[in-house]
Amino acid sequence: MAFGIYIHWPFCRSKCPYCDFFSKVQKHIPQDKIVNEYIEDIKYYSELTKNKEVTSIFFGGGTPSLLSPQNIERLISTIAANWHISSNIEISLEANPNTDSPSLFSDLHSSGINRLSLGIQSLSAEGLKFLGRTHSVRDALTSAEKVLNIFSNHSADFIYALPNQNITSWHNDLLQICSLGFKHLSLYQLTIEDGTIFAKKDIKPADENTAIELYNLSNQILTQYGYDHYEVSNFAKPLYECKHNKLYWQGDDYVGIGPSAHGRLHINNNFFATTHKRQKEKLTPYERAEELILMGLRLTEGINKQTFKQTCGLDFDKLISPQILTALSQQELIENSSQTIRATANGFLVLNKIIEDLICNSLYIDYQHQ
Ligand SMILES: C[S@@+](CC[C@H](N)C(=O)[O-])C[C@H]1O[C@@H](n2cnc3c(N)ncnc32)[C@H](O)[C@@H]1O
Ligand code: SF4
Repeated sequence: MAFGIYIHWPFCRSKCPYCDFFSKVQKHIPQDKIVNEYIEDIKYYSELTKNKEVTSIFFGGGTPSLLSPQNIERLISTIAANWHISSNIEISLEANPNTDSPSLFSDLHSSGINRLSLGIQSLSAEGLKFLGRTHSVRDALTSAEKVLNIFSNHSADFIYALPNQNITSWHNDLLQICSLGFKHLSLYQLTIEDGTIFAKKDIKPADENTAIELYNLSNQILTQYGYDHYEVSNFAKPLYECKHNKLYWQGDDYVGIGPSAHGRLHINNNFFATTHKRQKEKLTPYERAEELILMGLRLTEGINKQTFKQTCGLDFDKLISPQILTALSQQELIENSSQTIRATANGFLVLNKIIEDLICNSLYIDYQHQ
């Protein structure tokens, strides 16, 4: 079973107008002091999960490429000193292309990072300006070239369905994105989140029909270029799926370190949601089942019912109303067999509705009394 450590670094150089991730812009960051606290948290969680083998570490943000390579190395070596480490561990870090340091990517590689995820977001000057990014297209391309030279496992993030984005311009962008040569791509539709600058300015993303066209075109072009569409927004060349993100979607355990990081731990047959600082809340099997449905249906391969039972202790086919499963199958939104349930291509377009239908038609109360 996969087991990961997520380390959240909540600082950024500036706040992007669309972003509702927990991040702060501040001049003086007591980096060493914060990392010392993270190290204490890592040791605390290792005591709770001693017998597990770490299969992935993910430095997310905020902007973890602002962490010094020395501190990254300290965090990785603390993890290695406190758990068994898988021989093919994936250690990812999200980086922004707006670095001043010419040696940033080789320094990150030397500090132990073996998978780099670059936040390019757009390959057009207008797109970057609209998204309030502080890097230029040239910065993005220079950083991409370095990342591809230095790392053998790499990914890039892009945001689409911007207002007025049309199928022709996105088609051209997709061809350029694919020609860059990243092993993994994350393509996110712009969402307007409450409290962001975009929400305050009442910015609207591309309309729903255009967004669907852009999404379908992304799947078509990336598939032609050999990327497997393995999760709603994620595409990978064979063997390059993100192990760490996949563990969230599969419902495996992970430790979360940092002010807004959360974790999921399965200890002595109990499930816990953990939050900063070392808070643990027990989840019922039903709450855990809901999460597994919510996350698992994002994967193209869907939910394996045997793994579902091992993870939350409940039998999927006894938990969900057979009528709703039949109705969703007849509408060709899901494929449901005795081993797996997964969304079809049409189902992916209405995934939230499918998840809501499944969760609202859970027979948990009846199930408990069987
Ligand atoms: C943790 S965030 C940011 C990582 C890194 N700081 C950066 O900006 O590149 C991870 C990704 O989520 C995506 N994202 C964040 N907010 C979004 C939004 N409102 N709509 C669509 N995608 C979003 C961006 O593609 C971003 O790279
Ligand atoms: S998108 Fe990235 S750089 Fe921009 S505010 Fe959010 S976390 Fe920071």
